Amino acid sequence: MAEIIDTRIEPERAIETACAVLSDAEPVAIPTETVYGLAADATTSDAISRIYEMKGRPRFNPLICHVSDLAMAEAHVTFDPLSRRLAEAFWPGPLTLILPQRHESTVHTLASAGLDTLGIRMPDGFSRRVIARFGRPLAAPSANTSGKISPTSAAHVQGDLGPRLKLILDAGPAAIGLESTIVKVDKGALRLLRPGGLDAAEIEALTGLAIERPETAGATIEAPGMLASHYAPRAAVRINADDVRRGEALIRFGGKALPGEGDAAIVMDLSPTGSLREAAANLFDYMKKADVSGAATIAFGPIPSEGLGEAIIDRLQRAAAPRS
Ligand code: TXA
Ligand code: MG
Repeated sequence: MAEIIDTRIEPERAIETACAVLSDAEPVAIPTETVYGLAADATTSDAISRIYEMKGRPRFNPLICHVSDLAMAEAHVTFDPLSRRLAEAFWPGPLTLILPQRHESTVHTLASAGLDTLGIRMPDGFSRRVIARFGRPLAAPSANTSGKISPTSAAHVQGDLGPRLKLILDAGPAAIGLESTIVKVDKGALRLLRPGGLDAAEIEALTGLAIERPETAGATIEAPGMLASHYAPRAAVRINADDVRRGEALIRFGGKALPGEGDAAIVMDLSPTGSLREAAANLFDYMKKADVSGAATIAFGPIPSEGLGEAIIDRLQRAAAPRS
């Protein structure tokens, strides 16, 4: 199993050990504010190959490059004025920008899966300190087997990739719990490639622009990773349930009881007080707990679609999609 170092107890040893493992072209699981990432040196093809291998991830699906400051980002991508405004307003934070890669950039083409753009973000929290010390961008997808639920704790990572992984840095539960929001600026317009931990309404409020969404979910796969089935637990998933069937696990929201829940295998509430922020932080952990309960199906009660609800519902639709 992987060694786990608690960054709250041994921050210096955590950074030093992580940098040593990364220098060996080996991935390290690092805590970001969104989810735990499986990070490796973005400038080294062997390191990036290890990420794809460990996750079983298709190589046409590019990785996000994580930077510790704006100067590091500027060494690898070109900012248009609108993207720069977004970076200045929301970094460090749960926002990934898709930007043209510079010719001088040393990020390996395996990280971008051959595209001429890079997905780039500056994460908040301990991972940023690791990147600053390492001095190069880290490519990092979520630290889970491809297609499975993203990890929001060190224990989640250990339970999935632990046997294949050398090191996990543990900074406690991820504060946001949903992957970053992915935005691409196209001829001065904003396109939402993936709803995520940054509420799209905050981006609209800052810029005064309406954000464009793909017409129907799954119709255009512009972020190559946005496959219909994703974030899947072992159990089947039924969304927008208005009742509970015997033996199902129930995950509901806002303290709203559902008919039949007395017969559920387990009942959890993402946020009894109706906070979407709290619901986002609990979502993946509760999905894993429901899975462990052994129920064949997880039923989800209705969740409001505004604000972070958009990203939560996106993840649930993917979890409920037919699996290949
Ligand atoms: O919060 C997050 O974004 C987490 C943490 C670890 O930072 N990372 C994450 O990575 O969610 P991953 O690999 O699970 O999702 C990356 C998404 C994929 O949908 C991928 O297709 C898209 O970003 N992406 C990466 N580079 C891209 C590019 N150049 N153009 C379009 N989409 C890109
Ligand atoms: Mg992922």
